[in-house]
Amino acid sequence: MRAVLVANPKGGAGKTTLATNLSGYFANQSLVTTLCDLDRQQSALRWMAFRDPALPPVTGYYGGNQIVLNLPREADWVVVDAPAGLQGYKLTDYIRAVDRVVVPLVPSVFDMAATEDFLNSMRAELRAARGKIGIVAMRVDPRTRAAGMLEEFLKHFDIPIVTYLRNTQNYVNVAAAGATVFDPPRARNKKDLEQWAPLIDWLQG
Ligand SMILES: Nc1ncnc2c1ncn2[C@@H]1O[C@H](COP(=O)(O)OP(=O)(O)O)[C@@H](O)[C@H]1O
Ligand SMILES: [Mg+2]
Repeated sequence: MRAVLVANPKGGAGKTTLATNLSGYFANQSLVTTLCDLDRQQSALRWMAFRDPALPPVTGYYGGNQIVLNLPREADWVVVDAPAGLQGYKLTDYIRAVDRVVVPLVPSVFDMAATEDFLNSMRAELRAARGKIGIVAMRVDPRTRAAGMLEEFLKHFDIPIVTYLRNTQNYVNVAAAGATVFDPPRARNKKDLEQWAPLIDWLQG
């Protein structure tokens, strides 16, 4: 079993979008995939409920009541969707329990301020977990000024930007159907699939 935690203190950063699409990727690889939803709003589980039973299956459960993060050993991959505001000893605990931590980050001043506090508060963990934590730049074109701003900001933390995901309604549309960009028909998501490739390599490395 391998596990990835998707975390960022800010609501709307793209955690659930990343968590559901990653689950869709693993499921389409015929891997036993479990989505652990830690958010009381349970958006990831709601997404799962919409999922067409004909698609590769993703199972899931609400893990927000657990004191210690207990992950199902029988899964090939567990994807953990964190709530906004996850911090402190719980965050430290969760980082220890997983193989990778993905932090989605939108390059807006508001999102970066919230993420700066978050990254500062986990400097010790960052040091201990070096190589385990990566940023996904969300809703951004890598050739823009916003991307440059993000890179500049992240220099203080020594965390890699693993990939850039563009701003597209594709994510909104597939989510509404309990699907992901990895589910068929994939042709219309070709550009997005290319952007996911570095993240998938990094997770499996
Ligand atoms: N790359 C993207 N392009 C367009 N819309 C996106 C993208 N990523 C996320 N969204 C949308 O932004 C909203 C917030 O994303 P969500 O994944 O729910 O964030 P979080 O779980 O961090 O609160 C959702 O409506 C989602 O569909
Ligand atoms: Mg969410």
